[in-house]
Amino acid sequence: MNHIYPIFDTILQQQDKEALLQQKGKVIWMVGLSGSGKSTLARAAENTLHQEKKLTMLLDGDNLRTGVNNNLGFSEEERRENIRRAAEVAKLFANCGVVTICSLISPTESIRQMAKEIIGNDAYFEVYIDCPLEVCEQRDVKGLYAKARKGEIKEFTGISSPFEEPQHPDLRLKTGEKSIKECHQLLVDKILEITSLSV
Ligand code: ADX
Repeated sequence: MNHIYPIFDTILQQQDKEALLQQKGKVIWMVGLSGSGKSTLARAAENTLHQEKKLTMLLDGDNLRTGVNNNLGFSEEERRENIRRAAEVAKLFANCGVVTICSLISPTESIRQMAKEIIGNDAYFEVYIDCPLEVCEQRDVKGLYAKARKGEIKEFTGISSPFEEPQHPDLRLKTGEKSIKECHQLLVDKILEITSLSV
């Protein structure tokens, strides 16, 4: 970290960009097990917000792992680095006034705390996609739970790697009980509320 001279006090501030976009820059951090519905809801919310003329960015764990995070696996340390990079990228977008939706398992309290610290209290909005492991496993959309049970995938979240439930999420969506349509509506309404310039 020697000999670097970062300049953060540029003339244009986040508020200037928010005024241009007529929205507040926020990071919607979606937490939950694989198969809980994070990505489905994130994609649907992004579509609706786009129709509402909001500028959005979607950062999805699976996608990031093909690019900026393509050298990371699923050990605790690598997940931490995965989340750290995602949070830093999300922060850049939010600073630009963009409604940034992040969809990553983010399995532990300590990892989520780090993301929150990087992004900042004001911008970070945690959404827990609350779906019982049994339901995720029964759906097994990607066929990964079956592989994890057979031992073909190591350190699989919920099976052989821990998942700590968020204790105080800003929003909890019970995708095992409510329909995706209902959860989508709750999510979009909340995002529109917190990104409105008039609050
Ligand atoms: S995180 O734990 O570091 O936040 P992330 O959201 O980036 O995870 O990636 C999770 C996605 O990677 C899952 O949805 C699944 O498709 C895939 N995956 C592959 N191996 C694993 C594993 N061992 N544990 C969890 N997810 C895995």
